[in-house]
Amino acid sequence: MVSRVIPVDAFDLVVFGGTGDLAKRKILPALFRRFCSGQMEENSRIIGAARSDLGRDEYRQLVAEAINDYNTTTKCELGTLEAFLERIDYVHVDARGDEGWQELADLMQPGKVRAFYFSVGPGLFGDLAERLHRHGMADSDSRIVVEKPFGRDQETAKALNDVLAQHFYESQIYRIDHYLGKETVQNLMAVRFGNMLFEPLWNSQYVDHIQITVAETVGVGGRGEYYDRSGAMRDMVQNHLMQLLCLIAMEPPAKFDPDAVRDEKLKVIRALNPVDAEDIVRGQYGTGRGGDDYREDVENPRSTSESFIAMRVGISNWRWAATPFYLRTGKKLKARASEIAVIFKETPHSIFGPEAGRHRNILTIRLQPNEGMDLDVTIKEPGPGGMRLIDVPLDMTFADALGPEGEDVPDAYERLIMDVIRGNQTLFMRGDEVEAAWAWTDPIIAAWEDRGDKPVRYEPGSSGPEDALALLHRDGRRWREIRA
Ligand code: BG6
Repeated sequence: MVSRVIPVDAFDLVVFGGTGDLAKRKILPALFRRFCSGQMEENSRIIGAARSDLGRDEYRQLVAEAINDYNTTTKCELGTLEAFLERIDYVHVDARGDEGWQELADLMQPGKVRAFYFSVGPGLFGDLAERLHRHGMADSDSRIVVEKPFGRDQETAKALNDVLAQHFYESQIYRIDHYLGKETVQNLMAVRFGNMLFEPLWNSQYVDHIQITVAETVGVGGRGEYYDRSGAMRDMVQNHLMQLLCLIAMEPPAKFDPDAVRDEKLKVIRALNPVDAEDIVRGQYGTGRGGDDYREDVENPRSTSESFIAMRVGISNWRWAATPFYLRTGKKLKARASEIAVIFKETPHSIFGPEAGRHRNILTIRLQPNEGMDLDVTIKEPGPGGMRLIDVPLDMTFADALGPEGEDVPDAYERLIMDVIRGNQTLFMRGDEVEAAWAWTDPIIAAWEDRGDKPVRYEPGSSGPEDALALLHRDGRRWREIRA
């Protein structure tokens, strides 16, 4: 199977914060990989823009180093990096002053797609938007890309939306949630709406419950200050897990187009029930007996932020009213494993007698690693001796099913940046979605703050706090094992 590279129009992509961590780790390597696969037109350019007083050659050097450090593709031939660097320019701009803006405007070439990537803190979004406008760069076809965190509650998210709306239409604003760019996440929609098999069963009548797990082995790394102000609820649940939940739970949109999809996601968010304290477990890695410790990593011995969260979420609509969704995410867990598991109900009756037991199908969508899906089905255990049943997975690991091309799928940033150039907002969050997600999250966080809630400590390298197990035991269920 040959993967197709669909051409995109020539573009000028300005990366504000072009010397920063996100640019180096994700944006520039992603652009390099798209370049290698032939998706950058001859006169497309990437313009780094930042505070550092660098010349173009120095910036190219920085880009080359970033690609050496963070690029993962093996497909680009040596020497191509030089050709890629030819496409790179740099302007020293002052986001809060006047310096550099005219120079940037002069660099823009007419007739190309114009995109501005705000890879900077949200405190600068308004300054950048206003200056782009003032210097004539915010024409009606230009696009801006913004990253999370998009606010820290509904009020701040609304303020950011308002600031951007002063200079850009919603159709020009691309709010990234990189989980939406993951191959398997999109496959979720393909599986649900491209097959006859699943959708008729996709409701409370047949689905017992759904588990969404995003487990990481890493700790907070060098982002302690940001992370400790956020915790897992703001860092992961309000955005990534919420998006996964929406794609699983939404009604079929009439078309795969940006507003049709985002309207359906928004309805799910609005139908989420408030979550009671007994339906949430918050955890923090570290036991105080040596080894990795969250509080040391964030340099805050009294921190009460969570690095783990598990919760039971209900959706008040006809489709899902009787199906709980269990969400769990955490750092320093035993494996890096993210999956969505749809656990169907047991068969209503066993014709094979009580000893054969009653079985259930489980559809597992593995987001990472080892991307793919499997469906547990019940079959007869081979051999003589009567009718014994076993559950076996029908395994569809993408790398096996699709051959070498399945291993080389573009990463989330590659796909999302190219969608910006194409002008396709389907995989980006709309302003009202983000605000609605905060509207659901805010009271949960406020309740912890009012109670002075403290997370329970858990052993690094474990499956998280014991209390999280109890959350499901209570309902007669259990978590799937976290394993890569
Ligand atoms: C980021 C969070 O958005 O997603 C990080 O801020 C987290 O804390 C990361 O580690 C996880 O992304 P991925 O793609 O590695 O699963």
